[in-house]
Formats: sequence, structure tokens, C-alpha cells
Amino acid sequence: MAKAKTSYSCSACGAVFNKWSGRCDACGEWNCISEDTGISAGPSAATLGNSKGKSVHLTDLRTEETPPPRTLSGLAELDRVLGGGLVPASAILVGGDPGIGKSTLLLQAAAEFARKGLKTIYVSGEEASAQVRMRAQRLDLTDAPVQLAAETNLRDILTTLDQEKPQLAIIDSIQTMWSDNVGSAPGSVSQVRAAAHELTSYAKRKNMAVIIVGHVTKEGQIAGPRVVEHMVDTVLYFEGERGHQFRVLRAVKNRFGAADEIGVFEMTGRGLSEVTNPSALFLSERGTPAPGSVVFAGIEGTRPVLVELQALVAPSPHAQPRRAVVGWDSSRLAMILAVLEARCGIPFTGLDVYLNVAGGMKINEPAADLAVAAALLSAREDASIPADTVVFGEISLSGALRPVSQTENRLKEAQKLGFTSAIAPKGGKSPSVAGMALNQLADLTQFVGDTFGA
Ligand code: TYD
Ligand code: MG
Repeated sequence: MAKAKTSYSCSACGAVFNKWSGRCDACGEWNCISEDTGISAGPSAATLGNSKGKSVHLTDLRTEETPPPRTLSGLAELDRVLGGGLVPASAILVGGDPGIGKSTLLLQAAAEFARKGLKTIYVSGEEASAQVRMRAQRLDLTDAPVQLAAETNLRDILTTLDQEKPQLAIIDSIQTMWSDNVGSAPGSVSQVRAAAHELTSYAKRKNMAVIIVGHVTKEGQIAGPRVVEHMVDTVLYFEGERGHQFRVLRAVKNRFGAADEIGVFEMTGRGLSEVTNPSALFLSERGTPAPGSVVFAGIEGTRPVLVELQALVAPSPHAQPRRAVVGWDSSRLAMILAVLEARCGIPFTGLDVYLNVAGGMKINEPAADLAVAAALLSAREDASIPADTVVFGEISLSGALRPVSQTENRLKEAQKLGFTSAIAPKGGKSPSVAGMALNQLADLTQFVGDTFGA
């Protein structure tokens, strides 16, 4: 038999190399390359089913009119992010920082799915069964019919799954799992990849749904290879600031529903509780309107969400003024600053700029551009935006305002929360919502003139 060739892979980005080196050429990370030793030729014979390599004609597939029923957990925020409940035999990856609440969320989900009649097993590789039980006690879930297992060896786990035949297995976490087909240490790229592959293919074969927990690296990627994201049907990220009690579950990939959908939770002393009206929550900490504070009417997935943006602009003691952003894209901030300077003649040279999305929320929508510009100008001019006004709109490099989607939903949500006027781009549909005065503007210069009388 030919000698197995040794390869090396990067634990940060998953790139594979022939040689070891101290720094990954693909992502630039240091000390992240390790040897992938002894990957076996394939899965062990025991894990291969009878359906090996058989093909079926498309027309021979039984055409059930209705797709297999999804199971609702009853946690509405989770069900929506999944695209309307759990799809049988689907594979889901839940990523997030250590300590953010993944185990808590999934134990609660396991309990709810089990109560709805799904045979559910929770496999913990990080905690002993007794510890999981203690957590369940704290969450008041001890009566839920969930099976617990504390295992890290993949072969043992597959044996347990074979015996129990669950409809849903939760694997917490993929970084602790190891396959004896692979020589390297648990948590290494090749182990994570092999474990994820075996678990997802087992799940598909046995018609079992699997939820895999993955820790993310400091760069915000699922630790180990991105390839795990390609193996699963759905990728969810559990995000939040450690100091805040809000947690956002965000779908970044979903074969069975909308990506970008979010579910909002609050971490309490007794686990995660659902937040059904996130706008009210995100605005609850808002005091009297101060310069630099603007409410953005955004859309997250299928739902309108209002969030407060806060900007601070101050003379800089540094030769290179600071630009710091929390919850938004820093290159997008640079773009807005450049447009304000080039198109409206408002420079930020010599000024430090800080921008923060309140409540630990992260915004990805370009529709936040105008709200960001409004917050920056309001901070710079030391003039408040009226407290009853929401702002949204995309800014182009020419300074023109571009219409955004779902204007009506944004206005309705604002109206529900007591706002009475909105500043939005001209063009597109201009729905009228009772009780909301809509001020539609063509470009940024007009916004500056209207709002700050420049
Ligand atoms: P955990 O679910 O263990 O995080 P992860 O699995 O993502 O690493 O949650 C850890 C944090 O959550 C911990 O700091 C304590 C806190 N927590 C609560 O505030 N309330 C609770 O009811 C529970 C179970 C945890
Ligand atoms: Mg955990």
C-alpha cells in the first residue's frame, strides 16, 4: 500500500498545505497549522448503510404532495429562524462565542422538541450528564423527556444513536468530538471535519435531524473549517455582547427558510426567554434624545426592528483620528464619512468618530446608511434629531438616497412604537401609514439642509 501522504491544515480558515509553516498563507494567522495525520480512506464499514451508491430515477421518487411535516418547538423565535420549525433529517450548525448561551439555548430547544413528541438526545462532550442535569434543573426542565449522553468518541456516539434511534440529536460541541479514524487531536481541523461529515451523513441516512454546536474563533468564524458550513443545511449564529442580556440567533444560511432571519432572546437567571417585541426592547434604554442618537427603522429577515444608533464626534488628540464602530461595518462608516465630506462639504478631519448600535445588536442592512449619517451629523453639529422621528435609506457614492425595501413595514412598526414621522429616500413606493408623516428626500445635501439648516 502506498504510504499515506501527510498534509497540514490551518485551524483558522481550513486551508490545506503540503508543508508545515508558522503562518498560514491563506489567512495570515500565526501558529494555527497542524498535521492531519492518518485520515482513513473512508468511513468505517459499520457506518455505511445499504444504500451505497444506488441511484433512483427522479420520477420513481414517491411524490408526496405535502412535504414532511416540520416540528415546532413552541419557542417562536427559534422556529422562525429555522424557517418555520425543524425539518426532519436536516443538519443544523449553531455557532457562537464560548459562554454566549449555546448550550442553554439548545437544552431548552431539546426539552421543547421532546415535549412535542420528537425523540430527542442531547450529547454533551463538554459537560458530564450530572452537570447538564443541574443546568436543566436551573431551567426548570427536569421533567422533559430528553435523553442525555456525555460522550466524545464518535464511534460511541453513533452506537448510542443506533440503539436509541432518536429523531433529533444535539451534539454539543463539534470541537470536543473525535473519530478514531483520524490521528490528530480533538478540535483540530481534520477531526472537526471528519466528525461533522460522519454525523451529517449518519443523520441523512437514518432520517434523524442533527443540531451541531460549534464555537467560533475570535475572527467570528466557526472554529475549524468553513467546510462544516457547507455540509449542513442551516447555519445559525448566536450573537450578543457579553455585558448585555440580549442574544440574537441569526440564520446566515438556510436551505429551508429565509437567511438573515433573526430571533431575539434575553438571558435571564432561568435561561433564555423569548423577546417577541425586539423594537421595544432595543429602545427601552433610550433616554431623552441627545445629540448623536437616531432611531433606525430596519428590517431583519421578515420582521421590522427599530434600533437606536449612537454617535460621538470629538476633537482628536491623535495625528490619526480614531474611527471606532460597534455593531456596524467599519468600511461602510468610512464610506459615509467620505460622502459627507465630498458631497456635502462636511469634513471630519481632526475628529474622532465613534458609532455604536445600542443593545448589542449587529446591523448589516445598507438601509442604515442615512440613519448613520444622521447620527454623525447630529453629534458633530450638537443638534438632536426629533425624538419622534425614525430614519432609513441607502446612500450612494454620489450622495443620492436610494429607496429601500419594505418601507411600509418600517413605517408601521415605527407608528406602533409611538413615532410620528420618518425621514426616507424619495422614489419607489410611498405608502401612507396613518399617523406617520413621511419626509422623502432625494439626496444627502437636501437632508443636511432640511435637518440642520445648513
Ligand atoms: P452556556 O449556555 O454554557 O454558553 P455556551 O454553551 O455558549 O458556552 O451559557 C453560559 C452563560 O450563560 C454563563 O455565563 C451563565 C449564563 N446563564 C444565565 O445567565 N442563566 C442561565 O439560566 C444559564 C443556564 C446560564
Ligand atoms: Mg456550551
